[in-house]
Amino acid sequence: MQRTIIADALKSTAVNQPINVRGWVRSRRGNKNVSFIALNDGSTIKNIQIVVDLAKFPEDQLKPVTTGACISATGILVESQGAGQAVEIQLSELEVYGTADPEQYPLQKKGLSMEYLRTIAHLRPRTNTFGAVFRIRHNMAMAIHSYFHQHGYFYFHTPLITASDAEGAGQMFQVTTKNLYRLRKDEDGHIDYSDDFFGKMTSLTVSGQLEGELGAMALGKIYTFGPTFRAENSNTPRHLAEFWMIEPEVAFIQKDELMDLEEDFIKYCVRWALENCQDDLEFLNQFVDKGLIERLRSVVDTEFVRLPYTEGIRILQEAVKNGHKFEFPCEWGDDLASEHERYLVEKHFGKPVIMTDYPKDIKAFYMKLNEDGKTVQGTDVLFPAIGEIIGGSVREESYDKLMAEIESRHIPMKDMWWYLDTRRFGAAPHAGFGLGFERLMLFVTGMQNIRDVIPFPRTPKSADF
Ligand code: 4AD
Ligand code: MG
Repeated sequence: MQRTIIADALKSTAVNQPINVRGWVRSRRGNKNVSFIALNDGSTIKNIQIVVDLAKFPEDQLKPVTTGACISATGILVESQGAGQAVEIQLSELEVYGTADPEQYPLQKKGLSMEYLRTIAHLRPRTNTFGAVFRIRHNMAMAIHSYFHQHGYFYFHTPLITASDAEGAGQMFQVTTKNLYRLRKDEDGHIDYSDDFFGKMTSLTVSGQLEGELGAMALGKIYTFGPTFRAENSNTPRHLAEFWMIEPEVAFIQKDELMDLEEDFIKYCVRWALENCQDDLEFLNQFVDKGLIERLRSVVDTEFVRLPYTEGIRILQEAVKNGHKFEFPCEWGDDLASEHERYLVEKHFGKPVIMTDYPKDIKAFYMKLNEDGKTVQGTDVLFPAIGEIIGGSVREESYDKLMAEIESRHIPMKDMWWYLDTRRFGAAPHAGFGLGFERLMLFVTGMQNIRDVIPFPRTPKSADF
């Protein structure tokens, strides 16, 4: 018989008809006469109840049906007698695909810690929490493609292997086929890459932006959505060495329109979750973060604050004057620490903040210089509990100004002639941003640690699974 997914079975009105479901046993309980199997197949957070008449199925035959075992259950879909579900299945045929020894299966107990579950990342998708998180993750990916497709953007694929450091921050993982034990060096001690696979030094990308800009200079509005790699040695709940980033790049827009896009896009994604992930959000709201749904609703309904950096510093210094203690300094010119971001977002405004016009020295080389010659048109979005969720900017379209910045920062431009060409041939005003997919996931799920919103996290000293 053809399998029905449990999400559909639970909604089915075809009662008193045969049905087949397959999945993993969450629990089995019962008495002398009847046994109840709670079965889950990942299609929904909800289990379907399988009722087993022990007169027809001797206890012996049910013995392998323990928590974690995989079964196929055929029976009759009937209206449920019990509370909690509309329908259940009266079992007529049972097949056990795979057993799970109760002495050994690690997911027997409820309430296992997130830290422990990370050590069994190969099994944790079978828990309620991770099932919910990964279904929401899928939904967020669909929301992202849907938003951009509806708004006339093209999905533009940028390379993962690259010879340029887009952010100029030197946090790249090298890609090589060279024998690391026998590296050839020149007389100055520099590694000779001429016989390496690409004939030059290459790395995994830290951002698709630079190539994304090339796309925008031809297709007008593009976005990328792909893996991004950063060898930053920061063991925090908000950093991964491998994460996914969404990077729209748009020709002919200015700072205000960029901020409108950032705000509209995030709200669309959050609204999508509220509309399409109700069961999973309700579960997370109940067991992970009691304020979750309310916080999601409030973001959809609030207008984000737009705050120039200089004004932000003034607010922070005012707070210091009034006795608030920060660990790090916040003089004009300092990069904001997450305590500063959180003070502004959570304490001072109580809503998301788009911070703009940062000192140029704390931002990347490609950001458009303001007329004051000191600040650049960055537009980062800061979120409650997360801090920076989006990093964006208007791009410097003037060849001369861009070159001046590149030279003063000593950025090796030998391999970036192609990027400069966009400023030589038909340069256009343009802007874009990068949204960290997992930071969005943290916000939408209420999970506390970025390692718990991606199936197989990559962090310093950790690349299992
Ligand atoms: O602010 P970032 O470094 O900006 C860029 O890479 C630009 N090229 C984006 C653009 O304008 N097209 O990174 C963008 C976002 C951050 O705001 C954050 O959400 C996320 O990427 N991010 C990380 N997420 C997880 N782990 C990390 N190590 C991250 N580093 C950045
Ligand atoms: Mg940033």
